[in-house]
Amino acid sequence: MNVNLENIPNKTKNIIRIISELAGNSGVKIYAVGGFVRDLILDVDNFDIDIVVEGDAIKLAEILARHFNATIKKYKQFGTAVISFDEGFKIDFATARKELYEYPGAMPDVQPSTIKDDLGRRDFTVNAMAISLNKEDFGSILDFFGGKKDLENKIIRVLHKLSFIDDPTRIFRAIRFEQRFGFKIDEKSQNLLKEAVKLDLIKKINGFRIQDEILLVLNENEPFKAIRRLSELNCLKYVNPKIIVTKKMEKGFLKMQNVFTTDALVLGEKFLKWISYFLVLTDDLNLNEIKKLCVELKFTIGIMEIIIFSKQKSQKAFSFLNSNIFLSNSRIYTKLHCFPNETLLFLISKAESSKVKNIIVNYLTVLSKIKPILTGSDLKTLGFLPGPVFKKILSSLLEAKLNGVLSTKEDELRYVSKFFIGKITK
Ligand code: CTP
Repeated sequence: MNVNLENIPNKTKNIIRIISELAGNSGVKIYAVGGFVRDLILDVDNFDIDIVVEGDAIKLAEILARHFNATIKKYKQFGTAVISFDEGFKIDFATARKELYEYPGAMPDVQPSTIKDDLGRRDFTVNAMAISLNKEDFGSILDFFGGKKDLENKIIRVLHKLSFIDDPTRIFRAIRFEQRFGFKIDEKSQNLLKEAVKLDLIKKINGFRIQDEILLVLNENEPFKAIRRLSELNCLKYVNPKIIVTKKMEKGFLKMQNVFTTDALVLGEKFLKWISYFLVLTDDLNLNEIKKLCVELKFTIGIMEIIIFSKQKSQKAFSFLNSNIFLSNSRIYTKLHCFPNETLLFLISKAESSKVKNIIVNYLTVLSKIKPILTGSDLKTLGFLPGPVFKKILSSLLEAKLNGVLSTKEDELRYVSKFFIGKITK
């Protein structure tokens, strides 16, 4: 049984062909595995290629990195390497391996092995197929566990009954894939999942790994589906017992989703989608509960600051934006420019009036991009000495510009000479 590699972009296809040839020359067998194979069969774009090597993956990756003049990162203790091409395109290489878990949730002990063993240690049948990239059978599928049939029947099925016990993060993964593809976790697997939940195995996952799973769920296109299912299967309480799925939460997620497909587009890539969704997820928690959760999930200080700041200041920002007094552009700018993009997007999703929504959208699209034309070096040319006065002049210029008083460089020069030259010590 062969798979159609035609849908892959040409550049990737050429790289795969070259990799195949170089691996053949080195006498090792290689296979594309996991999500790449699943998505290729489903005809879903996925350009993250995972390659399993029957042999030394790091050695092969070194040869390839040299050939392509690409960057390589090696992880000796895991026998893995990543090579990165321009434009952020990456290929992961791993030595085919068996995994032994000392206790549930532990990092596994790893031993080199064959592709069949490597597929046999994986989470679900649909993720446990490989495509041969070897000359003799290039493009043929290795499907030892019925993955293709399960894909056709839209089923998520574990390979063996200890799967969730070996690795409880698979509880989250099963739900995520089920909801992403509109599949069903098969009955036996669902019973195993429920048993693992009852045994409190989610508690054994360390904070960083739970954080990863939450991020992956919140980065899905329709994260609420997985959140609702996590709650149905009693898993959400392990993230935090106070997070309760309600109609209000569902609406919050859908509104947020809507913002991502409309207003957020102006921001390009300048925000992390999952953070805005995290704010929706934890909207009913109080400040202390959120702080505690951030620590449990081992967020970085930077991420914690965004989340906590949002909790502390969102309400005040709303009261300000809703007030009936006239809000000049410069006042709006001063109020909003300390807010991270993720919080502003969250505020748009929560805005009850179109007036408030429009103010934030206008801030993001117009006001936040306004800057004086004059720079520090212009001020030097005008005879000012660098120091606090620079900040004073540039802020004053920005304020006047935001309020529409200035437009050209000449306007700005006139403004500086009228209000600053001869009025402050240089
Ligand atoms: N895998 C596993 N058990 C895990 C994590 C991963 O068996 N707990 C295996 C699966 O075969 C999976 C592959 O490693 O397909 C790659 O994992 P990952 O990159 O996390 O997932 P993808 O399947 O590529 O899914 P996504 O589309 O979400 O990236």
